[in-house]
Amino acid sequence: MVDATHALIAGSSGSGKTVLSRMMHTDFSGISVFMTPKGSESVLTDSPPASIIRTNADYDSDIKRVRDWAKARSEKVQIIVDECQMTGLSDGSGPVVDGLHLDRDDGIKWVLVTQSPQDLRASYSALQQCKRIYWVGPARTFHSGFLRYYKLSDIDFPNRFEWIRITPSLPPVVEGPFMTDEALA
Ligand SMILES: Nc1ncnc2c1ncn2[C@@H]1O[C@H](COP(=O)(O)OP(=O)(O)OP(=O)(O)O)[C@@H](O)[C@H]1O
Ligand SMILES: [Mg+2]
Repeated sequence: MVDATHALIAGSSGSGKTVLSRMMHTDFSGISVFMTPKGSESVLTDSPPASIIRTNADYDSDIKRVRDWAKARSEKVQIIVDECQMTGLSDGSGPVVDGLHLDRDDGIKWVLVTQSPQDLRASYSALQQCKRIYWVGPARTFHSGFLRYYKLSDIDFPNRFEWIRITPSLPPVVEGPFMTDEALA
């Protein structure tokens, strides 16, 4: 199985991050699980591409349940974690941190979505496993610490509803801008 490439989707409020993550959910060639702390629906099916988990219970417990389920499967599984600052990533522990470090060889791709990646700084060594950063909308002052950490301060950021794909190498490689899909808005 090909190694999975973990990804981080970041950008300010209302810029289109959730819509972009929905696009990745729809387009994934494998099983994709979309997780959000908003809502109460909990559906986990084996048919690709769309398995959806919504949780109003403890977010990390639900994520752990999905991770265990994904590890037992032979096909590629993408796990999208919207509002990932509400998980143990904020204090450097929990199933997402474990997954970023350990799951690539198992074909599990993690996609993390947050407004403010500085909130995740306790987990920066785990976040370095994200070899793609998707930046949605303009950067704000409160993003500056994260952008400095990844030496991204000099790149051109997109407009609202636009996104760029960054490979955080030295120098960073930037593709885009592309538009979020209004049909999924
Ligand atoms: N290309 C687009 N054209 C028109 N509306 C869009 C487009 N992309 C997103 N939207 C709308 O903009 C709003 C914000 O999008 P979205 O919820 O994806 O933002 P977000 O970055 O996830 O925000 P938050 O940080 O608050 O979660 C939504 O109402 C969405 O439907
Ligand atoms: Mg959102």
